[in-house]
Amino acid sequence: MLEVRDLHARYGDSKALFGIDLSVPAQGGVALLGRNGAGKSTLLKSLLDAGPQTTGDIHLNGRSLDGLSTEARARLGLALVPEDRRIFTTLTVRQNLELAWHAAGSQRPTMSVDHVCQLFPLLKDLLERLGYQLSGGQQQLVAVARGLMASPTVLLLDEPAEGLAPKVAQDLALQVRQAREKLGLTVLVAEQSIAYARRCTEYVYLLDSGTLVFEGDWQTFDARPELKSRYLAV
Ligand SMILES: Nc1ncnc2c1ncn2[C@@H]1O[C@H](COP(=O)(O)OP(=O)(O)OP(=O)(O)O)[C@@H](O)[C@H]1O
Ligand SMILES: [Mg+2]
Repeated sequence: MLEVRDLHARYGDSKALFGIDLSVPAQGGVALLGRNGAGKSTLLKSLLDAGPQTTGDIHLNGRSLDGLSTEARARLGLALVPEDRRIFTTLTVRQNLELAWHAAGSQRPTMSVDHVCQLFPLLKDLLERLGYQLSGGQQQLVAVARGLMASPTVLLLDEPAEGLAPKVAQDLALQVRQAREKLGLTVLVAEQSIAYARRCTEYVYLLDSGTLVFEGDWQTFDARPELKSRYLAV
């Protein structure tokens, strides 16, 4: 469904990704692990043409994304929840969620606020709060929920567990997994938290200095403990 071949990315003269090959199957859950500066956000942004300059092939459902704008890619069903969350602080949570309908344009089907509250029950009590009245963890929840409002086919999550207490992160990971199952969603999640990532994915890519150094399922990843000590801060 999402196929990346020989993706290179750079910011001006500074190269960040060196020939990435990555596949995310339809309705699959894939983790992209790597320490600070490994290139995780660069990869997610490259998929949406939202920042770095890129070369290589990206196909979504067999269709090349070459030459398509960020907005056109969103209309095809890609949604990114960025690492800085970007909650509008002077709007209510409900308004933050509803804004996402407009962001993806009128061609995409939308999800109702009620429906997204069923997937993330903690949202219900937050709907009328203003953005600045939310804790960091609550903002993270709103950001993930907002990513679903335009009914994406592929949800790209950039470090959704960052700054969350372990228990909150685990709950959110389980809700993401349930959302995947209920909506038939495909998820690519960039994380440094192995505990979070393994709860909502089946397959792992490990990125180091802009190059993939491992891919496999979690069992294979676990069988190689040196990967953690070498490529992740644990
Ligand atoms: N806007 C930018 N301009 C120039 N260089 C950048 C920019 N954004 C990222 N980089 C560089 O690209 C490389 C990859 O960064 P990236 O943000 O993709 O890492 P990351 O894996 O997401 O890290 P983190 O876990 O800290 O979010 C780093 O060397 C970083 O300094
Ligand atoms: Mg990042």
